[in-house]
Amino acid sequence: MSDTDTKEPIIGAGVPRIDGPDKLAGRANYAADNLPANMAYGYGVFSTIAKGKVTRLKVDEAKQMPGVIDIFHHGHFPSLYRTPSSFVQGNKVEETRLPFEDERVYYEGQFVALVVADSFENARAAARHVEVEYATESAVANLAQGLEDNGTQAGGGNHSRGDAASAFDAAGTTIDVTYHTPVETHNPMEMHASVAYWDAQGDLNIYDASQGVVVERNALSKIFAIAPERITVHAPYIGSGFGSKLWTWPHAIATAAVSRELGRPVQLVVPRQQMFTTTGHRPETRQRMRLATDDNGKLVSLRHEAINTTSFTDQYVETCGSVTKSLYSCPDLTVSHATTKVNRGTPTSMRAPGAAPGLFALESAIDEMALAAGVDPVQFRLDNYAERDESQDLDFSSNHIVEATQQAAERFGWHDRNPAIGSMREGREIVGYGMAACNWEALKRPCDARVSLRADGTAFASCATQDIGTGTYTIVAQAVSDVTGIPVDRITVKLGDSSYPDGPISGGSWATATTLPAIAGAARNALDELKRYATEGNGMFAEASADDLSVADGALHHADGKRASFAEILDAARYGSADGEAHTEAADSKYSYRSFGAHFVEVRWDPGISHLRVSRVVSAIDVGKVINETTARNQVEGAVVMGVGMGLFEATEYDERNGRPVNNDYAEYVVPVHADQPEIDVILLDYPDLAFNEYGARGIGEIGITGLAAAIGNAVHHATGKRIRELPITLDKLMDDVPQAQSA
Ligand code: MOS
Repeated sequence: MSDTDTKEPIIGAGVPRIDGPDKLAGRANYAADNLPANMAYGYGVFSTIAKGKVTRLKVDEAKQMPGVIDIFHHGHFPSLYRTPSSFVQGNKVEETRLPFEDERVYYEGQFVALVVADSFENARAAARHVEVEYATESAVANLAQGLEDNGTQAGGGNHSRGDAASAFDAAGTTIDVTYHTPVETHNPMEMHASVAYWDAQGDLNIYDASQGVVVERNALSKIFAIAPERITVHAPYIGSGFGSKLWTWPHAIATAAVSRELGRPVQLVVPRQQMFTTTGHRPETRQRMRLATDDNGKLVSLRHEAINTTSFTDQYVETCGSVTKSLYSCPDLTVSHATTKVNRGTPTSMRAPGAAPGLFALESAIDEMALAAGVDPVQFRLDNYAERDESQDLDFSSNHIVEATQQAAERFGWHDRNPAIGSMREGREIVGYGMAACNWEALKRPCDARVSLRADGTAFASCATQDIGTGTYTIVAQAVSDVTGIPVDRITVKLGDSSYPDGPISGGSWATATTLPAIAGAARNALDELKRYATEGNGMFAEASADDLSVADGALHHADGKRASFAEILDAARYGSADGEAHTEAADSKYSYRSFGAHFVEVRWDPGISHLRVSRVVSAIDVGKVINETTARNQVEGAVVMGVGMGLFEATEYDERNGRPVNNDYAEYVVPVHADQPEIDVILLDYPDLAFNEYGARGIGEIGITGLAAAIGNAVHHATGKRIRELPITLDKLMDDVPQAQSA
């Protein structure tokens, strides 16, 4: 959007990550890499029961161990304040209960004590010598037990239009099926970690693995009852989070609290096993789907009733029906959410919360409905996709799902599919084709940003959002370059520090759409200041008016042909920089803003040795304008791999007798490895959504995982004839007989 533009546009280009060299060279410091002088190390003592009470905590022996500084627990911990668990107020915590608040145990792996020592090893050794006695109570171990124990509590995000029950009863073809998804645990490479210290003025600095430095600062401000300006949360590099690092967890609060108590910096790393218990997970869901069509294969009734597990310490609603409200045209439709309490830690957002498990149910059920109606699943979708958002009675700002479905079908070769179950054989393998729609909301939040054009010809941009590995640093540089014409390699981007202008969480796929307009606005304001310097007094364009000056290649150009670089202008005027700030508002509500797409999946099932793999995925994604071809494609590819994990492997298992997690480590919690990766072909549609923001970008972090597990399940059904309604689709669920080819 520079005034003149002759070169390849920087927006959309596949610019390599500008933070890549620092990461490769080991110069990028993640939270636990910060080692302030005199730092002590914390290590947790974690409950070994899922429900009950700590009756006795013996620390005497542990306190005598080498290097131990102190041991904190319910009887010995600083007094803190509460914060409402509210995102609206921007200070969300995911557990409303403060660390060590009482002696109750609500889940296995809950902090019951915190040892601080002079080294990590000494802290860990002493933690193992803290003796804890419990009065164990019978735990609520899973969703089914939750329903028996405490029934359901109403959740939010419900929707109803028409009369779905009557339409269902009157319809010719109906299905009534229930899907189940297990707990999945976020496993970012970087473990949760906090390093806190308080300076001489009593101000808090915390290096934290956080997807939201502003929200965390605001939460800590409430908890420590000090002004937000006195807290700085630093998260310049994050080894991903998938949602687990969006909100503030007890370990960060505890680290800051004991650091103040001890008067020295403290570091706490959450062990991988406790990342399965104390830092959130995607909850278990049960989803009943009732669908009906008329004789023409049109959906006439749709009901999506979801229940998810939550904890006894907070209510987390997994909004499984969020997409169901608007993806298909259907006059009579009901979406409802409810929770049931179990003895697990509080769940949290995990990549495409709601939509990921929700579209497993919806897009599997749509496949079942299409087959029941005798319609090809692709055609069924094309016949039933909504043209406008019927849940809000709004037009979509931009919706290319029909083209996405058609393009992906074409690229994949859907027309070669023989619909007969088990009919496509290659050697020992039976090939299955399945597909599903994908969908995610687009949100743009208020944002502030700052850009400086400097006398040395460089530019500097800052915003208190984060780059969790997705490419935010790079696209911010692209936006500055787009407005100013300064090449990306002369632009410094600073993110991940709550003292910068307020920016969004790195979540919800908001960051691109939210941050770029503020960055661009700040860059334009900096250019305005620069033009003032150029045209005033003895500036280089003193005779001209600002309106006569255009911007290209890091220089101002006058209509008469005179050119002066930003550096020359600033130098001539004796200014070190020209600076701009901007504030941009949330998106309006004139339209329904959503992203769309379709996944086509090929699976291969070898019934002889019971081997199942996903061999090929084609995904066509409509997220508005693509800002960076490379990082955007990478987001979808990563989401597809995570979707393969969701479809085939991932489940956190709990012992039904006592609620204890049994596979909370990397050995037993199975995620896809290289050998599991399918061939992935991503089509990016790239239609700018200019009603949404000036770049037309809607964000791309989450949509790729939605629908993928359903597409796998649909392909598995095509290959095997088995409809697996419970994730993950493990081999035992397929093994009881060998499917036979049957006629269509
Ligand atoms: Mo995502 S679950 O909003 O980090």
